[in-house]
Amino acid sequence: MTSQTLREARRYEEASEKMIARESRPAFHLSVRTGWMNDPNGFSYYNGKYHMFYQYHPYDTNWGPMHWGHAVSDDLLHWEYLPAALAPDAPYDRDGCFSGSAVTLPDGRHLLMYTGVVKEQQKDGAICEVQRQCLAVGDGLDYEKYENNPVLDESDLPEGGSRFDFRDPKMWQKEDGTYCCVVGNRPADGSGQVLLFTSPDGFSWRYKKVLAANNNRFGKMWECPDFFKLDGKGVLIVSPQDMLPHNFEYHNGNGTLALIGEYDEETDTFTEQHDQAIDYGIDFYAPQTVLAPDGRRIMIGWMQNWDTCGHRTTESLWFGQMSLPRELYIENGRLYQRPIRELDGLRRNKVEYHNVTFSDTIRLEGVKGRRVDIELTLRAGDAENIYQKFAIRFAQNELYQTTLSFRPRESILKIDRKFSGSRKAIIHQRRSKVNSVRGELKLRVILDRSGVEAFVNDGEQVMSAIVYTEQAADGICFFADGVVNMDVVKYDLTEGDC
Ligand code: FRU
Repeated sequence: MTSQTLREARRYEEASEKMIARESRPAFHLSVRTGWMNDPNGFSYYNGKYHMFYQYHPYDTNWGPMHWGHAVSDDLLHWEYLPAALAPDAPYDRDGCFSGSAVTLPDGRHLLMYTGVVKEQQKDGAICEVQRQCLAVGDGLDYEKYENNPVLDESDLPEGGSRFDFRDPKMWQKEDGTYCCVVGNRPADGSGQVLLFTSPDGFSWRYKKVLAANNNRFGKMWECPDFFKLDGKGVLIVSPQDMLPHNFEYHNGNGTLALIGEYDEETDTFTEQHDQAIDYGIDFYAPQTVLAPDGRRIMIGWMQNWDTCGHRTTESLWFGQMSLPRELYIENGRLYQRPIRELDGLRRNKVEYHNVTFSDTIRLEGVKGRRVDIELTLRAGDAENIYQKFAIRFAQNELYQTTLSFRPRESILKIDRKFSGSRKAIIHQRRSKVNSVRGELKLRVILDRSGVEAFVNDGEQVMSAIVYTEQAADGICFFADGVVNMDVVKYDLTEGDC
């Protein structure tokens, strides 16, 4: 039975979406139907389509009582909105349906697990949110909350685990048909841990063990865990709050972390071998993955940043979009990310230049636009004297520009959106160390109206940032201090109704 709260949200979003111009949205990144969006939730392949749910406050472009928005897609690039799936309408989730995940049950139903939030006044008057894991079962359109909710609460926590920070279950099904989920939690040391739970049927859940403990190494509480096997390794991704930078890693206070290691399935033991940030730009958080039918592991993140998302440049009826879907690989012990190959199907109007040697500012005929895919191969134009700096400037006109610049002598790649039209003193720059010898670097830069994602060295690193510059600013130019030799292959990313 659909509650009044959910019916109202569904009516509201349908009417409000009509007031949002299509051109004000990214074309092939999922954006919120109306109002506010944060984390991807319930990312799954169900009944022949990809389903994406998301943290959703339809009535306002600011965070508020969390619903689950819903959209489906055949290719992860063209999305169709479906009615909101969950609203905070039950006693155990009346203050929010927080993040969670989805699996398919043996009888073909879609099972959602999410965090139900209830505010509770403490003895000292403080209000704290009690967080418990809940289920809803549906057919890909309508979902019924489970009568025995919540299925995991404080009684399922290991000693010292906080009931106020116990959220974001990510489920998967094992080969033997049983289910597992990982959930973020705060242990007594005040940092984060990932708890593993198991279930024979998806409905009755038992605590198994601490899969990974932060021990105050990477920020504090770990949000939105995801755990999967990839190229023979175990990969745990989490979004830690309040991180400190380590050299060139973890520059976003609320950032992302990938732990790569060995996973022994017999004993559910995860042994860490490597850690790294997932995205080295400004706007990327709370990613979630899906296993595609063809075996690819695909990840989508929220293309925003908790520290700056409260500051807006433009008034609009929507706020929040997802990143590009990215295929994941382990290479050289690191996590690699590449834009999903379906994106190649949107490429039109190829323009290419080879061996362009320059030492100034240049524009290239046919290279401009705000929905583009640009492959750059950089080399030193003078092997004896490697250039000082290369830059590509985009979303550019007389007033505005955003820049990706590379200094080969320091191996630093920088994104700078200071002149993108932002009027707020938020973070505008991020620098990342990249791998480069003799001034060589490969970049794939993808623009989709309101954002940029730069893939470095075939996916070794990614830098993502939201750019709010008006769409008329569609210039692109290149700059070299010293002599750069470059190949450019540029496509428009467009398709009929995009
Ligand atoms: C992460 C997060 C989650 C929580 C959700 C609430 O961005 O804080 O931990 O479930 O957002 O909207």
